[in-house]
Amino acid sequence: MDGTQDVLSQAPLFEALDDEGSKALRSCMRDVRLTRGQTLFAEGDDGDRLYVVLDGKIKLTRTAPDGRENLLSVLGPGEMFGELSLFDPRPRTASAIAVTECRLAAVAHDELRPWLDKSPQVAVTLLGALARRLRRANDVMADLVFTDVPGRVAKALLDLAERFGKQTDDGLHVHHDLTQEELAQLVGASRETVNKALADFAGRGWIRIEARAVVILDIDRLKRRAR
Ligand code: CMP
Repeated sequence: MDGTQDVLSQAPLFEALDDEGSKALRSCMRDVRLTRGQTLFAEGDDGDRLYVVLDGKIKLTRTAPDGRENLLSVLGPGEMFGELSLFDPRPRTASAIAVTECRLAAVAHDELRPWLDKSPQVAVTLLGALARRLRRANDVMADLVFTDVPGRVAKALLDLAERFGKQTDDGLHVHHDLTQEELAQLVGASRETVNKALADFAGRGWIRIEARAVVILDIDRLKRRAR
């Protein structure tokens, strides 16, 4: 089993499949490579395939009519996107842009649909992934209404840590690869307010700020602030 198969086996799409099924589905998939900053598809495009991230980071964004961006999520290895237009054949609901160099596995919706018919487990695990996404979207929406910006910054850092965090001797290293502007778009606040919250956390010794990364030094305090 190579590293790619390992990453794929973590994706919800493959959870329910045995080795033989995984191999068969893998053979329907094509590798796609993106350079940093490259757009894979734009909000409103016709969508005909689903992707699993093998390597790198992808951001999903929406743009307001006045040009402001909202960063819905940053996805890393094993995570899947592009499934909404599989179940509901309408235009893409967000743009997908590479935050770093990326390698993806792509499967055409037309090739995936027979799998949903012949394997109820595949359909159920995809529904599970959709349900998790809806839960998360509800949480994000509630946070926008009920939680102050520092609380949302703390939550965003913890969410990024879950995806990209690596424990090192001096703390939990979260190499998110996002610019300050992108972090602000993820939190849904201005860059100035988000920077102020980050500086405050750093001043209290909860985090250390590095270029496109943070090191979480006191995760318990950060979790308490996120509540
Ligand atoms: P699709 O609409 O085909 O293309 C854009 C993809 O972004 C979409 O499928 C989902 O896979 C993903 N997506 C849309 N909204 C969110 C969200 N709120 N959080 C995470 N991913 C999302």
